[in-house]
Amino acid sequence: MTTLSEGTAAPVGEVVLEAVGLTKHFPVRRKLRDLFSRNPASVHAVDDVSFELRRGQVTALVGESGSGKSTVARLLAQLYPRTGGDILLHGRPTKVRGGRRFRAYVRRVQLIFQDPFASLNPVHTVRYHLTRALRIHGNAGKTAADLERALGELLTRVSLTPPERYLDKFPHELSGGQRQRVAIARALGADPEALLADEPVSMLDVSIRLGILNLLRDLKERLNLAILYITHDIASARYFADETMVMYAGRMVEGGDSETVTQNPAHPYTRLLIESAPDPDRIAGIADATVKDRGNGEPPSLIKPPAGCRFNPRCPHAMPRCTVDLPPRLEIGDRPGHWAACWLYDPETVAKESPGSLAGADPAVETPPALHLTEEAR
Ligand SMILES: Nc1ncnc2c1ncn2[C@@H]1O[C@H](COP(=O)(O)OP(=O)(O)OP(=O)(O)O)[C@@H](O)[C@H]1O
Ligand code: SF4
Ligand SMILES: [Mg+2]
Repeated sequence: MTTLSEGTAAPVGEVVLEAVGLTKHFPVRRKLRDLFSRNPASVHAVDDVSFELRRGQVTALVGESGSGKSTVARLLAQLYPRTGGDILLHGRPTKVRGGRRFRAYVRRVQLIFQDPFASLNPVHTVRYHLTRALRIHGNAGKTAADLERALGELLTRVSLTPPERYLDKFPHELSGGQRQRVAIARALGADPEALLADEPVSMLDVSIRLGILNLLRDLKERLNLAILYITHDIASARYFADETMVMYAGRMVEGGDSETVTQNPAHPYTRLLIESAPDPDRIAGIADATVKDRGNGEPPSLIKPPAGCRFNPRCPHAMPRCTVDLPPRLEIGDRPGHWAACWLYDPETVAKESPGSLAGADPAVETPPALHLTEEAR
């Protein structure tokens, strides 16, 4: 008798997990007087983040260091209490703090960490880690033979075969890629519906990254999993993810299908991110002077984030309105579901203000091509 499901009958594309206006502010106490302040200082790590994870789909969350990606993953894994917003599992609001409800939640939503060495206990074998996961989540079966079969199945699912070769190994006896495969197998021990993978390949040698991404893609298809793939590397999002969302300084700034977001980026920050990515494939056709960074490449303070659009101190297209009003999600119009939170895509704002008017008299800075495309589309 098998204890783990081989995918489910749930339709591909069914929404499993939904973030709705997810917000996390970490309190910081800088001075004694902050203790008595009504508005104590806080790090605005995540603000008003909304998206859906769907069965059989990989959704990439891309952004530079400190943009709030891991905080989003930890909020979705219910490891942090949230400051605001909601997390819906199959449309139902969830709020779990430890105990039985937490265990029931993590059975369906599993988190994979960046560093497989740190996430596995060095004094325990692969067998111990996987048995524990199967037992905690009630998938170990009734007999020793059931357990052995489930262990074999888990290792086969992550292509560590034959399983007997790996079961009694300690983490230090495995390569980085094998350790990450064990960490993935442990997550699969819960038989989850959603996997949150926080930079799952960034600590691995370049040569084995592709193998792990291919494994995750294969699992997505075979087990009909909803996967959140967190990465710095927008080029890998294009290769691996069905949908890509871009975060900057705690806020979502662009989203759409991965091909469109990476090949026809609309938000000036996404364009900058693509311009800085070491991927020769994409440079043709996108690299241009419109992606100049007006700042010194530094992200803003998250304790006192800039008013209006948080990218305005660096944006070569910033207009007066950008320093005051927060841009909403605006449809780009090239492909269904492609949006950017940028005033450049609001025709009324562009008609009233001149793009780049805060950027100084730099003749190289022009309106981004994506905006022209939008106007044609209208
Ligand atoms: N526990 C915490 N207490 C206070 N501030 C925190 C805490 N965790 C994260 N932060 C802050 O929240 C912001 C977002 O951090 P987060 O780790 O989510 O970013 P990230 O996008 O995952 O970055 P990286 O790519 O470096 O992993 C950062 O400014 C970080 O310093
Ligand atoms: S044009 Fe304005 S709204 Fe758009 S990214 Fe630049 S500063 Fe932000
Ligand atoms: Mg992180």
